[in-house]
Amino acid sequence: MDADVRDAILGHGPWPPPPVRDPSNRVAASAAAAVFGRTLFFDPRLSTDGTIACSTCHLPEFGYTDRRPVGIGLATTDRNTKSVVDARFNRWYGWSGATDSLWAASLRPLLDPREMGSAERHVVERLRNEPDLAAGYRRVFRESPDRVDDGRLFADVGKALAAFQNTLISRRSAFDDYRDALARGDQRAQSRYPADALRGLQLFVGRAQCNLCHLGPQFSNGEFDRVGISVRRPDGRIDWGRHDGIKALQSSRFSLLGRFNDDPSRSTAGSTRHVALTAENYGQFRVPSLRNVARTAPYMHDGSLATLTEVVRHYSTIDAVKLHLAMPHAHGEPGDDLPSRPIETFPRTLDLTEREIADLVAFLESLTERPRR
Ligand code: HEC
Ligand code: HEC
Repeated sequence: MDADVRDAILGHGPWPPPPVRDPSNRVAASAAAAVFGRTLFFDPRLSTDGTIACSTCHLPEFGYTDRRPVGIGLATTDRNTKSVVDARFNRWYGWSGATDSLWAASLRPLLDPREMGSAERHVVERLRNEPDLAAGYRRVFRESPDRVDDGRLFADVGKALAAFQNTLISRRSAFDDYRDALARGDQRAQSRYPADALRGLQLFVGRAQCNLCHLGPQFSNGEFDRVGISVRRPDGRIDWGRHDGIKALQSSRFSLLGRFNDDPSRSTAGSTRHVALTAENYGQFRVPSLRNVARTAPYMHDGSLATLTEVVRHYSTIDAVKLHLAMPHAHGEPGDDLPSRPIETFPRTLDLTEREIADLVAFLESLTERPRR
């Protein structure tokens, strides 16, 4: 194997990565907060009519997603439900990075009228008036919810929810065992990795150049890009992705630049401070992690591709025309005249053979965590 290929493969590990601290959330690592956050995650009382919980869309048995093209709460949303497993490692949250911390991402669905349809007022009143929730809050934050102002109490709900989600880290996969065996030069252990998955992996880091964007142990560079998925919603409106995400982030009281960040030095707010809206952001979506991807069908921000085979077939046929057609191209529409970065990334169609498609799918399936022992 070439040294370049070996280095590229080693770059997708080790797993799990070292724990990251989240100084913006003073209870991020608290076991008591994780317990309370777990209760809240499965509790429909925080929604406006008491019928929708986080777990309505993030079902543990489906890898914390819902197997639907787009999430359905009080109404149908526009986007595919993202898993919350390994979410603690992200820099941006959601398909468009509308939030910059796990706790702010956990507040967003509470307020979205199509998800839980709640209001800050409703959530803080539940915390103060439901005795078990008030007691849970006191146990974690060592204060009565009656003495905390509405904004902070609401943010603290997100922080407890984040503490629970911080405990959700995917287990090791067949790929990780292969990667570590390669690192220590253990031929016997390497030979246990299926031949089709290995061919797929070599394509992934080689000719198919998937790792231009799906980089590192999480198989994501953490940024935003376009891969030819249409920005049009079924009702004809347009999902501008990252462009809308930046606008939402910059106007949010709950971003890392705001007063609810528990870290007075704002040490993790650098990316948020420097984010700038450009024409490039129209129609970009976050490069998703690929760990456990075989479990979280359907795919893409709009759930428009049903299987991994469909995803790989899509990549096989991306070219300048497909990238262009994914964007509105009536003259004068924003995004009509986008810079050419995606075209440089996909200069010509990959034209994968049937066997190469199957190999890439076998590789993606090898990123599935092993069953719990
Ligand atoms: C109606 C379905 C629905 C409900 C209810 C819901 N979510 Fe989500 N969740 C989604 C969708 C859809 C996305 C992607 C949103 C986007 O990109 O705009 C998402 C994204 C997320 C993310 C971002 C993950 C990442 O890696 O970027 C987190 C964290 C999250 N949800 C946590 C929660 C929590 C906590 C609750 C309960 C307070 C909740 N969700 C309730 C559908 C739902
Ligand atoms: C230019 C960056 C880029 C390259 C190169 C790239 N991807 Fe992606 N990938 C993305 C983005 C961005 C998305 C989300 C797009 C959307 O939802 O509109 C995505 C989505 C996916 C998904 C769906 C995951 C999910 O949870 O919905 C899979 C699977 C995937 N890519 C695999 C691949 C494979 C295999 C290759 C190589 C053939 C590849 N990607 C090359 C950026 C890239």
